[in-house]
Amino acid sequence: MLSFRLAALQIWTPAPYIGTTRPAHLNVTDPELSSLATPYYLIDKEKLLRNLEIIDRVRRQSGAKALLALKCFATWSVFDLMRDYMDGTTSSSLFEVRLGRRHFGGETHAYSVAWSDTEIDEVVGHADKIIFNSVSQFERFAGKAGAIPRGLRLNPGVSVSGFDLADPARPFSRLGEWDPARVEPLLDRIDGFMVHNQCENRDFDLFDKVLAETERRFGHLFAEVSWVSLGGGIHFTGEGYPLDAFCARLKQFAERHGVQVYLEPGEAAVTNSTSLEVTVLDRLSNRKELLIVDSSVEAHMLDLLIYRESAKMQPDEGPWRYLVCGKSCLAGDIFGEFSFPAEVRIGDRLSIQDAAGYTMVKKNWFNGVQMPSIAIRELDGTVRLVRRFTFEDYESSLS
Ligand SMILES: Cc1ncc(COP(=O)(O)O)c(C=O)c1O
Repeated sequence: MLSFRLAALQIWTPAPYIGTTRPAHLNVTDPELSSLATPYYLIDKEKLLRNLEIIDRVRRQSGAKALLALKCFATWSVFDLMRDYMDGTTSSSLFEVRLGRRHFGGETHAYSVAWSDTEIDEVVGHADKIIFNSVSQFERFAGKAGAIPRGLRLNPGVSVSGFDLADPARPFSRLGEWDPARVEPLLDRIDGFMVHNQCENRDFDLFDKVLAETERRFGHLFAEVSWVSLGGGIHFTGEGYPLDAFCARLKQFAERHGVQVYLEPGEAAVTNSTSLEVTVLDRLSNRKELLIVDSSVEAHMLDLLIYRESAKMQPDEGPWRYLVCGKSCLAGDIFGEFSFPAEVRIGDRLSIQDAAGYTMVKKNWFNGVQMPSIAIRELDGTVRLVRRFTFEDYESSLS
């Protein structure tokens, strides 16, 4: 085995830079960007705005309210733009509730899989609505909600999810109550419901089917409350999504049950808005051409590893093919295999796409790898560096 491995290794000598015509950065032509040290996440407000305008249209056309799911995206430096197109935030913890209240404003919904005795009072102090995950949590803490409306998560037992890991309807799911008979005795104390059983769903017909099953199961409960949140996971900002049909269905649902509908978009709000900009630090060859960049999938785009997906690279076309790898010690720290229009060399910059949702919120200090800075391209085209991370940030993340 050892001898096979050694045989497979090829010795590679870095190609010298020849001539001066080749740009120093493969993909960066903007001088403002090339002066920023990598790695950094670049949020492009123009691209974000495209999603926000669709969300706003859905709000106006359907009457639904839209809350940003902070679990997906919580980079508050762009909330100044987002709050003009959305009604507020929803959360999964006390800290998200606090962040939403402080930096976004509007309506602050507080949901958690389980609230604890030590946090419940503070949660209520920052929230406009509190949503419990179970009858047991509701019975324990509803009395603490004071004047704010109380909700309960329901689980229709059907979902749209390609991954067992992210499937709220997986066997033995702990996410919400599935038996209407357990909920009925509490109805006079419940103001609303939340259902989140759509995941990365680009298919309107599938959305419609899951919603119909949800109504079949829980419709008689919806008639008793004033609001229903349909959660996130609906990719209605995607290219070609039938927005008119979507809005009509939301409106029909609201009218049929006499409720205010909420949507909780996370990914749909930020999709394709952000890139992770990196620099090539080294090249190796081991039957494939390998590039090592100054970032790490494990640390900076963790969801790719969890869901075993490839990153998206731009450009990804041309005769030069490389495996782009992270710099952590994890053997499988690989962004993916991509094609480039020119030979990639040490010092070149690469732009990894779609790095907002479930990415920036999950970044971590694994291997002590330099945390990517955060930069924002404003609507007028200027780029603003809003956060740089230092050794002291790494140090203070532990003690
Ligand atoms: C309760 C709830 N609401 C909203 C969302 C946001 O979903 P997405 O980012 O897929 O739109 C999630 C994601 O897990 C969720 O659990």
